[in-house]
Amino acid sequence: MKIAIVGCGFVADYYMSTLPLYPQLELVGVTDKNKDRQHQFATYYSIPTYDSLEELLADSQVKIVVNLTDPRSHYQVSKSCLEAGKHVYSEKPLAMTIPEAKDLVQIAENRGLQISSAPCSLLGETAQTVWKALRENMVGPVRLVYAEMDDGMVHQMPYQKWVSKSGKPWPYADEFEVGCTIEHAGYYVNWLTAFFGPAETVTSFSSCLIPNKETDVELTPADTPDFSVACIKFQSGVVARLTCSIVAPHDHKLSIIGDKGILSIHDCWDYSDSVYIQRLTRIGRKVFMNPIKQKYPLVRKPLTSKYTRGAQNMDFSRGIAEMAAAIFENRRSRMAADVSLHNNELAIAIHNAFEGGCFYKLTTSFDAIFPMYWAK
Ligand SMILES: NC(=O)c1ccc[n+]([C@@H]2O[C@H](COP(=O)([O-])OP(=O)(O)OC[C@H]3O[C@@H](n4cnc5c(N)ncnc54)[C@H](O)[C@@H]3O)[C@@H](O)[C@H]2O)c1
Repeated sequence: MKIAIVGCGFVADYYMSTLPLYPQLELVGVTDKNKDRQHQFATYYSIPTYDSLEELLADSQVKIVVNLTDPRSHYQVSKSCLEAGKHVYSEKPLAMTIPEAKDLVQIAENRGLQISSAPCSLLGETAQTVWKALRENMVGPVRLVYAEMDDGMVHQMPYQKWVSKSGKPWPYADEFEVGCTIEHAGYYVNWLTAFFGPAETVTSFSSCLIPNKETDVELTPADTPDFSVACIKFQSGVVARLTCSIVAPHDHKLSIIGDKGILSIHDCWDYSDSVYIQRLTRIGRKVFMNPIKQKYPLVRKPLTSKYTRGAQNMDFSRGIAEMAAAIFENRRSRMAADVSLHNNELAIAIHNAFEGGCFYKLTTSFDAIFPMYWAK
């Protein structure tokens, strides 16, 4: 399946690092409106370039466009791709507003095209293992979930020095302006909706704790929430609390609390992270959570470690491979458009809560998705 990339920024290097795992995907060209960056990226990886998005879209051999532009460009770029008859794999968020996200999904549906949004971490070995443990009822009926997406006090870190493999500085102004909830809620939202089904309501609070982030540039807006907390009620009855921040110390833990015990992992950004079970134990008249954590074996040996570096042991290209396989096999994708839309709606609702707080009823839902064939 021939693919092309629009947006050769910081994250494009992450995609390049695991693309070799998928020889069925052929990257035929890239484009970026920043021509210096396009040249730097294309030279580093020896890839052909297109002079513009229009030239890319006119190339009939391209079946999937991978939209790696900044979040506020996603809607326009994805729309142009769909209107040109291309399937779209977009970085998150699908769009910055719910009407725009719905519009993209509608255009795709009208034209018989697929659109999916990252993250694809649900397709990772750790997520698939947690999901299998839940299907096997390892902790009994699930009552409550705590999911944390805290990334430490980013504005105090030397983020101006963070540079991707091929030389793109981390786009900190854009990250601060878009906000950590839009950027990161999806990493757990996409797991939770797969495990527990569509959400019914979400009650949230979000706030900007560090206005302007002490940067060297003027942020617009300067008060994007850098902290949010949300309680999601799923149609299945499960309740989850999700926290996102770039203020509290790094913590990406997940705890799934059931009647028979707790399933937990340390970090959803690590596809090889171990899955643990703590069991509710009865001795005489005492009932307590056994402090000894037992490892629940990963469903398969993770593929990523050889290809990734740094704190994020993730396979960004796996989502494109899933889309290509779904198109090729003419089946529903595990990252189908309705799933991406629902996850996007949740993240936007949480981000938009602000300090007044917000009780929000989801307006979208999705049909069930299925685990990876190697995790059944
Ligand atoms: N930076 C990260 O660590 C990271 C990690 C995971 C996901 N993401 C996501 O990846 C996406 C891109 O982030 P990034 O960090 O690579 O941003 P970036 O700013 O480094 O790169 C975006 C690139 O897109 C180009 N671009 C924007 N609009 C365009 C258009 N209309 N046509 C052609 N090129 C265009 C820009 O010139 C820029 O080079 C975002 O959605 C972000 O949420 C980023």
